[in-house]
Amino acid sequence: MAITRPEYILAIDQGTTGTRAVIFNHNARRVTSTAIPMTSIVPHTGWLEQRPLDIWRTAQTAIADALINAGIRGDEIKAIGIANQRETTLIWNRHTGQPIYNAIGWSSTQSQSIADAWHNAGHDELIRAKTGLPVSAYFSATKIRWILDHVPGAQAQAEAGDLVFGTVDTWLVWQLTDGEVHATDASNAARTMLYNIHTQAWDAELLALFNIPAAMLPQVHTSSDVIAHTNPMQFFGGRVPIASVIGDQNASLVGQLALEPGTIKNTYGAGAFLLMNTGHEPVMSDNQLVTTIAYQVGDRPTYALEGSIFSAGSAVQWLHDRLGLIETQLDAWQAAEASENADEVYVVPAFNGLGAPYWDPQVRGAVFGMTRGTGKNDFIKATLQSIAYQTADILAIMKAESKYDVIKMKADGTVSRNPYLMQFQADVADIQVERSIDEDTTPLGAAFLAGLTVGYWQDLSDLEQYVPQGRQFTASLTAERRATLLTGWRNAVRATQFFSS
Ligand code: G3P
Repeated sequence: MAITRPEYILAIDQGTTGTRAVIFNHNARRVTSTAIPMTSIVPHTGWLEQRPLDIWRTAQTAIADALINAGIRGDEIKAIGIANQRETTLIWNRHTGQPIYNAIGWSSTQSQSIADAWHNAGHDELIRAKTGLPVSAYFSATKIRWILDHVPGAQAQAEAGDLVFGTVDTWLVWQLTDGEVHATDASNAARTMLYNIHTQAWDAELLALFNIPAAMLPQVHTSSDVIAHTNPMQFFGGRVPIASVIGDQNASLVGQLALEPGTIKNTYGAGAFLLMNTGHEPVMSDNQLVTTIAYQVGDRPTYALEGSIFSAGSAVQWLHDRLGLIETQLDAWQAAEASENADEVYVVPAFNGLGAPYWDPQVRGAVFGMTRGTGKNDFIKATLQSIAYQTADILAIMKAESKYDVIKMKADGTVSRNPYLMQFQADVADIQVERSIDEDTTPLGAAFLAGLTVGYWQDLSDLEQYVPQGRQFTASLTAERRATLLTGWRNAVRATQFFSS
């Protein structure tokens, strides 16, 4: 009698700092997880680029290592889910597969003058109404325009149909299918500033306005769909369905099972990304939050209100890399607990400008409130607090703009492991914080959706049994003290903006 070997779901999580491959079993437990780091190129201050082949090679190596570690063959993978850094933009030749420029990273500011020109031409309202996004160099459209403007002959080649555009998911699907499939999902399309989130189609009016040929754009699928099958030559002998593609922040919303309208998650990574699930209704923000597609399962998208914070964990990294103030995450926690300063120091970590809700690309970082007594621990504590303050600003708007009671937020990401930060977050935003047991819920979200597509799991809500409740942090600050702290922070941001203007 033939022995049936178990089957697994593979999640590929491709981010700015590297690529991970995680293999899950039927109980949604990690069988193995591998991570391959990736370097970025910084040609000028504020720019960030990556080599397209590095993205693919780190993915290949991560997958190979994961399969080898677990002793699993390519054809024992039931389905693949891809979660990816969003907005990052690649353009390559349709016939040769050769990229015509590096990948331009989501945080790169090289296309700022293009965003400024579109803003000055008065396009903000039209763009926001169709895409849910403010005009910003963060989103892919300005990066596409930058490449077409700067690579000689690119515009003509794009118009002749020889070039294709993709975010990182599209690039990986292209590689895994050996150039057969050019596709993305609705959550990634919604980050390009070219996708109409209401009609669910690439928007012809915006394409004409930006002079971007429609032929460059990938086919858009739902986030739970067999988008393609791997070419066995590219996937260790397996012809495996790629059964989910989804932006990484959106994947962690799913991995946290924040599936009910009104639920919120914040992933504290290099940046921090808060998403509130708003169900099938797009909530348009009057206060600079982004309206986006969280994920799409079936015909109707599930929307989110999002606040993107550009500097969170990267500010803690700065304490380590540039200032040498900490060695480990644990140091940051202990220093914050040891600080005797009465929270009077404010760090505004506007290293790449400020994201939501300020959207101020020009502002640069600042420190306020130092005295002769201010020491290293106080500085570290204030840097951690800046992450919580930025989050509190966004939560305040979500509270005001959505019809849901904002009383709880799910947290994940590397910096969420710091208990001081989590407690301060609960205190300053007056919210219950539930920190996931799993530091990283992104691969789980991509795996859940892929497993759902191929019937490995039946319903997302069945998965609750596999996601244990995390540690709770409850607010314990007086309203008066909270108001004083927040006033100090907002004054610090205003002063920083004034100085930078
Ligand atoms: O929007 C940017 C987001 O997707 C962050 O990606 O992987 O670089 O943290 P990552």
